[in-house]
Amino acid sequence: MKKTVLVSGGAGFIGSHVTVELSQAGYDVVIADNFSNCDETNYRGVCQILGRTLPLVRMDFCDKEAVDALFAQYPIDAVIHFAAFKAVGESVSEPLKYYRNNLLSFVNILETAKERGGCNVLFSSSATVYGEAEDLPVTEQTPRQPATSPYGNTKTMCEDILRDCVKAYPGIKGIALRYFNPIGAHPSALIGELPRGVPNNLVPFITQTAIGKRACLSVFGNDYPTPDGTCLRDFIDIVDLAKAHVSAVTRMLDGQMKAGYEIFNIGTGRPVSVLELINTFERVNGLKLNWKFAPRRPGDVVSIWADPSLAGKELGWKAERSLDDTLKAAWDWEKYIAGK
Ligand code: UD1
Repeated sequence: MKKTVLVSGGAGFIGSHVTVELSQAGYDVVIADNFSNCDETNYRGVCQILGRTLPLVRMDFCDKEAVDALFAQYPIDAVIHFAAFKAVGESVSEPLKYYRNNLLSFVNILETAKERGGCNVLFSSSATVYGEAEDLPVTEQTPRQPATSPYGNTKTMCEDILRDCVKAYPGIKGIALRYFNPIGAHPSALIGELPRGVPNNLVPFITQTAIGKRACLSVFGNDYPTPDGTCLRDFIDIVDLAKAHVSAVTRMLDGQMKAGYEIFNIGTGRPVSVLELINTFERVNGLKLNWKFAPRRPGDVVSIWADPSLAGKELGWKAERSLDDTLKAAWDWEKYIAGK
């Protein structure tokens, strides 16, 4: 029988790509989203790619009764939880907004799962939990650092909440995927990243500058102790990232987990500098970007990249798409959105 996966925040950037990959892998997917940080563009794109309409529930995971009703309505075998706020700067000025939304929504899901005898829960964590790591690349054993923002703190705390629930409630199994820097868009250009207002993240800022929505990209810092003076990151293609979720969900549902709670890094293992990313974007898309150096951005780590070998060994997953293809897709998506 087909298994059903609930994707909270399934209308967002990562959630929509995961929904497509899960559906194409043969899972029934239920999308639940409150559209607080996105519109219906990605949901419509998902349906267009798949050629059918997927169940969509408009709800807020902070509403426990709504979570109960959702689990009562659908035979949910696994949950992937994306519904959370993610702006680092905003989380510093509005910490309670982040703690309420990001923690309460997850606690509600786990509580409902517990009350119903358990569930397989996949949490979307982040490399932010490693902070400025002493040894690179980071493995899952690399110690976590105290979070530098409330946003980062919610990722660390949700990991711990999941770990504790797995220990206490036998029916709950958990996997945390620690993403590095997810970028790009679906090759169809029908789904992608749609930040509201001025983008915080590098690639949406690049594509919006290239299309003329932003005058100039600021490259934050040129005097870091790196080969070209700009920060190093592990940019992971969004479709590759989405496929890691399919592998992780399948591992949970097929009873292949080696422990009740597991953690995997999801990255390429290759550090790329901010300048290298910009140069690659210009080359593959045949355009010139208006950019300048600007002071360092407070809170940025200098360098972070993954050792993704555990995911390779246990999930049978590795990043496959090239940076060229990823940055072409990001640009195709920006052009598609601009033309709408
Ligand atoms: C941040 C979060 C991470 C989250 C990710 C995606 C932290 C410390 N980091 O990663 O948890 O998963 O966003 O939402 O919490 N840059 C510029 N100019 C710009 C924008 C960025 O030079 O206009 C540079 C930054 O200085 C950085 C790199 O590009 O060196 C990547 O920045 P960004 O895309 O914002 O991601 P992170 O800060 O790495």
